[in-house]
Amino acid sequence: MDVGLNPNLKLQAVANSTLTKKRSTAYGSTVALKSAMAASGAILVLYLIVHMYGNLKVFSGQAAFDGYAHALREIGSPILPESGFLWIFRMVLLASILIHIYSAAVLTIRARKAREQRYVVKKRVQRTYASYTMRWGGVLIALFVVFHILHLTTNDIAPGGKSDSPYERLVNGFQPEFWYVTLFYVLAVIAVGFHLRHGIWSGMATLGVNKASRQGKINAVAVALAVIVTVGFLLPPLAVTFGLVN
Ligand code: HEM
Repeated sequence: MDVGLNPNLKLQAVANSTLTKKRSTAYGSTVALKSAMAASGAILVLYLIVHMYGNLKVFSGQAAFDGYAHALREIGSPILPESGFLWIFRMVLLASILIHIYSAAVLTIRARKAREQRYVVKKRVQRTYASYTMRWGGVLIALFVVFHILHLTTNDIAPGGKSDSPYERLVNGFQPEFWYVTLFYVLAVIAVGFHLRHGIWSGMATLGVNKASRQGKINAVAVALAVIVTVGFLLPPLAVTFGLVN
């Protein structure tokens, strides 16, 4: 077709190519955002596994638990100052959390806009079970992390009394009379479990690892990791509340 002869067709062709460019840029940045989500999510999953493992040292007694917390502050010494590695690690963790939340928010807004454009008549947007759980579970986990740091790291929230010993902070924090604190932890950790299960699954999809032949295996890995992390995190607070650790 010779668009050069017809100015209307020429305009149309320019508009179409601009739209295609816009769409492919948006597609490109969606892929970038999903990759950023998968990469930051992977760092957070690794952190959770190490943190869960460290928490289980509570069953080996106060010396083992506090020794572990102290050893974390000594990593890199004497090249780095006291807690130097911990602070570098905290920055990486914080950056991962912010990148994870930012990409989730932008992708959610973009998906919502795309749906509104497609349906001229506004229908009630059908939420899938997974997207709903991920979104609100994510919000609950973010609130939990803020509470959790004030509770067991800075100890500004200390219903059972303050302590310099991480072991004592943990034991004080989950005494039976503070059952509501334990309950909040249980709910948050279950939310973490669901988040991990779906997050590992969709992270694998982003990385292109979940070919049809491997889907069964990947699902099994996602479920197993989610269950291990959930149970591992639940054991210490429940053991304290039920008097098995004191
Ligand atoms: C439910 C069982 C959990 C227990 C008993 C627990 C225990 C602790 C303790 C004792 C600390 C302070 C460590 C120290 O000062 O040396 C801590 C820090 C922390 N926890 Fe947990 N935790 C649990 C679950 C979680 C979960 C599910 C998350 C994330 C979703 C999480 C994220 C963090 C973060 C970000 C810190 C701050 C680390 C830092 O000092 O930079 N924890 N936790």
